Amino acid sequence: MSPSDSDRSFPDQLSRMILGGRIAQVIAVAAELGIPDRLKDGPRTGDELAAATGTHAPSLHRLMQALAALDLVTTEAAGYALTPLGSALRSDRPERLDLFARFVGHDSSWRSWGHLLHCIRTGEAAFPDVFGMQAWEYREQNPDFGQLFDEWMTAGSVRRQDAILPAYDFSRFHTVVDVAGGHGQLLGAILQRYPALRGILFDQPHVLAGAAGTLAGLGVQDRCTTIGGSFFDTVPTGGNAYLLKFILHDWDDDPAVAILQTVSRAMTPDSTLLVIDRVLPSDGPPDLNAAVMDLHMLVSFAGKERTELEFHSLYDRAGFRLTRIVKTASDVSIIEGVLVEHP
Ligand SMILES: C[S@@+](CC[C@H](N)C(=O)[O-])C[C@H]1O[C@@H](n2cnc3c(N)ncnc32)[C@H](O)[C@@H]1O
Repeated sequence: MSPSDSDRSFPDQLSRMILGGRIAQVIAVAAELGIPDRLKDGPRTGDELAAATGTHAPSLHRLMQALAALDLVTTEAAGYALTPLGSALRSDRPERLDLFARFVGHDSSWRSWGHLLHCIRTGEAAFPDVFGMQAWEYREQNPDFGQLFDEWMTAGSVRRQDAILPAYDFSRFHTVVDVAGGHGQLLGAILQRYPALRGILFDQPHVLAGAAGTLAGLGVQDRCTTIGGSFFDTVPTGGNAYLLKFILHDWDDDPAVAILQTVSRAMTPDSTLLVIDRVLPSDGPPDLNAAVMDLHMLVSFAGKERTELEFHSLYDRAGFRLTRIVKTASDVSIIEGVLVEHP
């Protein structure tokens, strides 16, 4: 490669990265308007799409041109048609990237990320300053966005459960308490696999209001109780496994220790703690997804992804012993712990 080639190549690569946020908005708006779903049965003209989405036709045309430049649609005589890449944004795809795009492009993510510099300078979250409330309160007060988030979490469990379930043997447990388990997709999948097991799904009451359909869809509603509350006050007793998936990364160390301590008070001495989170490598940089997610935790909640050493220190502070880290064939691991001393 000649120096001039590399001169062209690196600025081009970097320009594409710099445009990343705007490209994410183009894709998010396409998903929000349901463009991929509206094209699934064949090409539609710009005017048809504008009428169906209630948008300004000349501006929608400009959005469609950007989608064409991104290779998500093609322009044909019959109108716009989906490419295989654009089809991946349809809402009937199991990956539910439409939800991901809408979540990343949502006002709440977009405006908080606009303050990343402040977060890097201070170590503080941006979300509470920008919106005048914590992200969890915002989700409660904006139920459409709360629903979008909960559905995206459910889709994330669907994507990972085939990696998590074979990695860990739940057969020695009688009751699994899923602490802040959202709509219960992972707990439901575990109960489906172990027909003698019972479950308790714990989360904020307004989140649990959307869980019945998921549990019934998995056919486990008779073996699963739902209990609402805050994990800073109390979590249900009666389990011998306590599961926390994608919870600790939402919180800085002090609140994360406080959550673990609440869990420890509900446990019996023979209970097992099962935290499911990403474990950052200690010998080099994480992959891009994990690195960006780590910053998203900072921007939103002053939370963070953690290394094995950091999990050890968190468990020590909360009165647990980290017994092992079980890798799964996905981006998350199961970080098992036991009580050092019953509180
Ligand atoms: C990142 S989501 C993870 C949900 C689920 N465990 C999963 O992996 O799909 C974090 C969860 O924490 C819950 N949460 C936040 N604050 C809480 C609190 N104070 N008490 C109980 N749950 C809380 C949210 O409602 C949400 O369901």
